[in-house]
Amino acid sequence: MNGDKKLTEMLGIQYPIVQAPMLGVTSPEMVAAVSNGGGLGSLPLGGLAAGVARKLIHQTKALTNKPFAVNLFTYTIPAIAYETAESMALFLKEICTINDLNYTKPDLAQLQFHSYEELIPVLLDENIPIVSFTFGCPDDAAIAAFKSRGVKLIGTVTSVEEAVFLAEKGIDMLTVQGIEAGGHRGSFLSETIPQTGLFTLLPQIADVVSLPLLAAGGIYDQRTIAAAHQLGASGVQIGSLFITANESLASDLYKSSIMQASETGTVLTRAVTGRWLRALRNRLIDLVESSGQVVPAYPVQGSLTAPIRSLAQAQGIADFFPMLAGQACSRAVKQSAAEILSKLVDAYR
Ligand SMILES: Cc1cc2nc3c(=O)[nH]c(=O)nc-3n(C[C@H](O)[C@H](O)[C@H](O)COP(=O)(O)O)c2cc1C
Repeated sequence: MNGDKKLTEMLGIQYPIVQAPMLGVTSPEMVAAVSNGGGLGSLPLGGLAAGVARKLIHQTKALTNKPFAVNLFTYTIPAIAYETAESMALFLKEICTINDLNYTKPDLAQLQFHSYEELIPVLLDENIPIVSFTFGCPDDAAIAAFKSRGVKLIGTVTSVEEAVFLAEKGIDMLTVQGIEAGGHRGSFLSETIPQTGLFTLLPQIADVVSLPLLAAGGIYDQRTIAAAHQLGASGVQIGSLFITANESLASDLYKSSIMQASETGTVLTRAVTGRWLRALRNRLIDLVESSGQVVPAYPVQGSLTAPIRSLAQAQGIADFFPMLAGQACSRAVKQSAAEILSKLVDAYR
């Protein structure tokens, strides 16, 4: 099967396979291994401070001279709703006490969030050739700045409406994210979260938008890659399959949990960060969802659950450590990122 030549030429890569950016999982080593293997590695920088982002870019550049993408969270940071946040923090403290976890409530007045705008000068300065984004669209000035430097832009969409919106903004390529996908939904236009499967969404977007499309959600082998191309994709973006890579930052507990999950083992929830995401169902998610508490908006809820998540990860407590993963995550195997990529590349040989 041939990939779309336009897509590979546009990105300067050999195979139309993009390793999905996965904040907290993807390392510079993973990005470099995929780019060195002829795919496109993606470095997640969403929500990071400029200094941290620059360091990660330097680490990646030291490992590859091939193109790689960096990924931004292009949304507007909301004001903190203090009453809701206080109430949630008290609830989290209560469930931690009952479950013998030591929860230190974050000081809400001290919470610091970083906007994607802070990262734009860094990306331009570092001559990043490809920028992917999720949760929205960069503002017009940012798009113009990237375009004037020849940067290729890849936006994430979960509906036909979002695809048309980004196409009209002049974005170069779209990642079409089906409901199967692990991690956060990239949705940004409608109040109710689109929950359309990739099979339904991809051809409907291909019918109305002429941009190259990357299919994302539940792709893990030659069959699923072939199906994505049949439905209108020019390439694929794959996340969960790389969680178990040797270069992944995921813990052994995380890796073994996703490998043992069933196809019904994940849920869509706002309980973890305040934004809809797909993760393995666990006790923390169930307790927050059944609490009757209003879940504070992203990223505040993420800051409130962060102490629990790091504690549970360090102590290996799966019940309280939400593991982001897609519906096909059990297909992942423990291998190097190069080996994982090389199996996928067979689809294009
Ligand atoms: C652990 C994890 C973290 C993710 N983090 C990001 C991220 O930082 N930025 C982003 O655009 N997408 C992120 N995603 C979503 C992926 O880009 C992609 O849509 C998804 O992994 C595709 O579905 P799959 O997991 O079934 O392959 C993440 C996905 C996972 C599983």
